[in-house]
Amino acid sequence: MIELHHLEKRFGGSLAVQDLNLIFPDGELTALLGPSGCGKTTTLRMINRLTEPSGGRVLLGGQDTRTLKPEALRRGIGYVIQQVGLFPHLNVAQNVATVPDLLGRDRRATAARVDELLDLVGLDPDTFRHKRPGELSGGQAQRVGVARALAADPPVLLMDEPFGALDPLARDRLQDAFRDIQRRLRKTVVMVTHDIDEALRLGDRVALMNAGRLEQFGTPDDLIYRPVSDFVRQFLGEDAALRQLAGQPVGRFMVALHGPDGLQPGRAGTGGAASPLPAVAVEETLNARSALSVLLREGTDRLTVTRGGQPVGTVGWHDLRASGPERP
Ligand SMILES: Nc1ncnc2c1ncn2[C@@H]1O[C@H](COP(=O)(O)OP(=O)(O)OP(=O)(O)O)[C@@H](O)[C@H]1O
Ligand SMILES: [Mg+2]
Repeated sequence: MIELHHLEKRFGGSLAVQDLNLIFPDGELTALLGPSGCGKTTTLRMINRLTEPSGGRVLLGGQDTRTLKPEALRRGIGYVIQQVGLFPHLNVAQNVATVPDLLGRDRRATAARVDELLDLVGLDPDTFRHKRPGELSGGQAQRVGVARALAADPPVLLMDEPFGALDPLARDRLQDAFRDIQRRLRKTVVMVTHDIDEALRLGDRVALMNAGRLEQFGTPDDLIYRPVSDFVRQFLGEDAALRQLAGQPVGRFMVALHGPDGLQPGRAGTGGAASPLPAVAVEETLNARSALSVLLREGTDRLTVTRGGQPVGTVGWHDLRASGPERP
């Protein structure tokens, strides 16, 4: 757990960050979101003391980071930045192994770990192990950057616009890959972004900053459906709810035909086991926004949701808006 208490950063006469109070929960990804210049990078850098706070405290696992040597602190925290910052004279394997080598870890174990990590980020170790950063595409270099940050197996990962330099397609793919990695590894991640979709898609929680202050901290649904201010509403935009649906499989919203263990009867609804299933079906992996389009196009109020072609539930307009206060 990372705690920020009354954190403040002053550059000359102006406050880049002021009275920031935030808790980043263990094992969750928190997106630090906000307009350019609002203090995201400064906040992130105060966590690993690349920037020293002017006031307030940062606690890491309950310990005040000022009591730790900055180098020791940073070795325990993975850090990924947009420009990746790979060492150009080292090959991919050596780049990924930087921190384990620094920590004096066993060479053979490290080599195996490097291969495992390259696999994890979707780079074939045999193909990429010996390449130099100059021989990589932007997306490949960012994957190496993520692998390097994970190499020492730090419980905490700080990421500053890690996918920012990528074209939309490569960014989508790397975001998906990272989401899978995070589901498995459950690191405590703070990810700076000014990309709303990225924040809503990857963030378990979102901290929205505005002019050095925290505007709202909550789940993506909190920000979309329960914005605390006009700023939040405007920053997310009118179509935030629709965009949020685009990032989620329709299976998340369906009413199951049977309970999770397949034994209990499902919630009775129009799609309950006793009544006939809606004629139009979609796979559970389809994104929820596309399912909404199907609903509208077909002029029906419910769809059957299938898994591998077998019906597993149904979904209607109200289910897709289930997290919103508008639900009747
Ligand atoms: N080293 C510095 N010296 C002086 N001012 C700085 C320094 N670093 C940042 N600032 C100022 O602090 C404010 C916050 O900067 P910061 O880099 O944290 O913003 P950001 O939210 O990360 O923005 P962006 O989305 O553009 O990266 C800005 O007004 C910036 O000009
Ligand atoms: Mg920044």
